[in-house]
Amino acid sequence: MLKTIILLGAPGAGKGTNAKKITSEYHLPHISTGDMFREALRDETELGKLAKSYMDKGLLVPDEVTISLVKERLSKDDCKDGFLLDGFPRNLKQAEALEEIGKEINRPINYVIDINVPEEILKDRITGRRVCKKCGAPYHIKTLKPKVDGVCDICGGELMQRKDDNEEALKVRLDEYHHQTEPLINYYSKKGILHTVDGSKDLKEVMADINAILG
Ligand code: AP5
Ligand code: MG
Ligand code: ZN
Repeated sequence: MLKTIILLGAPGAGKGTNAKKITSEYHLPHISTGDMFREALRDETELGKLAKSYMDKGLLVPDEVTISLVKERLSKDDCKDGFLLDGFPRNLKQAEALEEIGKEINRPINYVIDINVPEEILKDRITGRRVCKKCGAPYHIKTLKPKVDGVCDICGGELMQRKDDNEEALKVRLDEYHHQTEPLINYYSKKGILHTVDGSKDLKEVMADINAILG
């Protein structure tokens, strides 16, 4: 079956980490709204400046901005044979908009994978995370070290800490997650396309569980 996938999960659940593996294994474009905003920020575009004012605080970027960004991205040629969405949709309005976009491009979502991780683990994941300045690949100071300290295995870029990976912004991000994103679990469960994986297991096991779902 054509793979059109959404990865759901709290901040630090492992969406980005597993997305990188899934998209390379199944040859799908990895569409991460968070990465797109951070890229716009690096390029100092208007979109980047606008997104920064929300991201730094841990708040969601306004729906109109995010939805039109995703709509444009999904209409590109490389999404014809499937795609993976990481960090979108994040509330009911975005989920409903995605459903409309899916109809327009004739690519409905057929897998929603919720990566479930208890809150006490999330904090450790977020504070220990380092990301590549150049390509955004995530690492962890304890669980996923790069081969060379401070250097990205994939592109050789320098590793840094994300600006929103501090306790204050994380608290807001978790709040946004519980209030806005968590209801999507029920939304997709009702549609019969929700799968849940235990994201507290080690990385290999989580990926094995995901592979079992995707077949
Ligand atoms: P976004 O970039 O999407 O951040 P997030 O949802 O907070 O999620 P994270 O990227 O922090 O976590 P992740 O699940 O990807 O975890 P990772 O794989 O890195 O969004 C950032 C901001 O952009 C938002 O706050 C908002 O402002 C804006 N935004 C984005 N999308 C939006 C939208 N749709 N609407 C509005 N605004 C939007 O893993 C975390 C760490 O844990 C890593 O160090 C990793 O190595 C480690 N790890 C992962 N899995 C395991 C494991 N199984 N065992 C051990 N360690 C693990
Ligand atoms: Mg991420
Ligand atoms: Zn890199």
